[in-house]
Amino acid sequence: MFERPDSGERAVLVHITFPDGRGGDDRDEFADLAISAGVAPVATVTGRRRAPDPRHFIGAGKLAELGARVAAEHADVVIFNQALSPAQERNLESALGCRVLDRITLILDIFAQRASTAEGKLQVELAQLRHLSTRLVRGWTHLERQKGGIGLRGPGEKQLETDRRLVTERIRAIERRLERVGTRRELSRRSRSRAGVPVVALVGYTNAGKSTLFNALTGARVGTADQLFATLDPTLRRIELEGGQRLILADTVGFISDLPHELVAAFRATLEETRRASLLLHVVDAGDPHRADKIVQVNRVLDEIGAGDIAQIHVFNKVDACPQGANALNGAAAPRRREGESAGPTRVWVSALKSTGLERLTEAIGEHFRAATVVRQLRLPASAGRLRARLYELGSVVAERTEDNGDWLIEVNIAPAALERLRRREGLAPTLVSRREVGENCNVEADLPVAGTPKAS
Ligand code: GTP
Repeated sequence: MFERPDSGERAVLVHITFPDGRGGDDRDEFADLAISAGVAPVATVTGRRRAPDPRHFIGAGKLAELGARVAAEHADVVIFNQALSPAQERNLESALGCRVLDRITLILDIFAQRASTAEGKLQVELAQLRHLSTRLVRGWTHLERQKGGIGLRGPGEKQLETDRRLVTERIRAIERRLERVGTRRELSRRSRSRAGVPVVALVGYTNAGKSTLFNALTGARVGTADQLFATLDPTLRRIELEGGQRLILADTVGFISDLPHELVAAFRATLEETRRASLLLHVVDAGDPHRADKIVQVNRVLDEIGAGDIAQIHVFNKVDACPQGANALNGAAAPRRREGESAGPTRVWVSALKSTGLERLTEAIGEHFRAATVVRQLRLPASAGRLRARLYELGSVVAERTEDNGDWLIEVNIAPAALERLRRREGLAPTLVSRREVGENCNVEADLPVAGTPKAS
């Protein structure tokens, strides 16, 4: 029987690259991931291979070099920057005499540490169980006696004494519970969309500053930390822009290249919030030398979860900390528009930490939604005074005239969902009339955007 060695926290990292580009990701980011999981990287072994060795992933020479480093550094754990097969993992552990993890287990471990809500925890546990179910061997049985340790949090302590059948049952039970949570989430989502409140989701590579921006925009206090994946569960807050545009801002989990597919699947319900958003604020660390690549990675995940076609505003954050930042915030800071684009600016520069550039961002959001409005002509009975007043408050009224019988004929420029929300709340059904009727005795400027500078409140 194969006995797995104890786990520990001094780590040797193994960074192997292949000619097809696999493993070519940032070495620093890999080290950051390990640190985020709570281990101390004490050495890094690098290498190139044409293809993984089926037994040990690396060749005999590299294995000897790795073994020597493990011994010299008194390392407790070896972490590979790639996915290992269960057999490779076991063979490496036997050869090195210490615990071996791959990139997927490492990321799952970080998620296990960070999940805070019941749903988040279930989702991570599900992902871990799915991943571990392929690795269940009798040798795992001793692990349930260990407390914590990298790669051993979550189900490691509870489930691994069980066999495949029990794990499968546990997976089913979690899936059922997640389904129930998903149904509740769906109900509240529906009631939000009935109320006509659009969702604006913050997305971006992990550590880009989404939670900090969320806090700056909403005044909420979501945990922000200089660690990867500090946010694991979506957090929702209502904000109202000046001009009355109400929206729900959603903070979401940070993305990363090669996000294990088990995790994308497990977080589908959470990521659904992103999929249903009307607008995405794609937060980018402006000073990150790899930012272009990370934008591509995030867009790839967005495609994968069916959110690839949602309008985005790129929010270049942390301009306070990068040399181009001052320029971006001053002269060149005018939000950029895409050629021929009418739905508002697509790039804005901010510092979420210093709360600079935020008015520009909220203006851009407001403009996006205004561009998404329609012009409608309404007949309101005299009894609909409140509805009329609210339309004025929202800055939606473009033109108005009063009929002899006291009815108002009003032309509004408004998002269809917002009009529907108002109509329901006031319990009144304004009649749609023709534009000519409204415009006869007044100056209609239907194509002008609604005035008013949006601002987060
Ligand atoms: P995940 O939860 O991993 O997805 O991270 P996140 O994108 O939510 O990042 P978070 O807001 O936690 O910020 C990560 C780190 O960047 C923290 O240390 C923040 O203080 C820092 N940060 C965020 N915004 C700014 C900024 O405008 N300027 C500077 N200098 N640092 C910032």
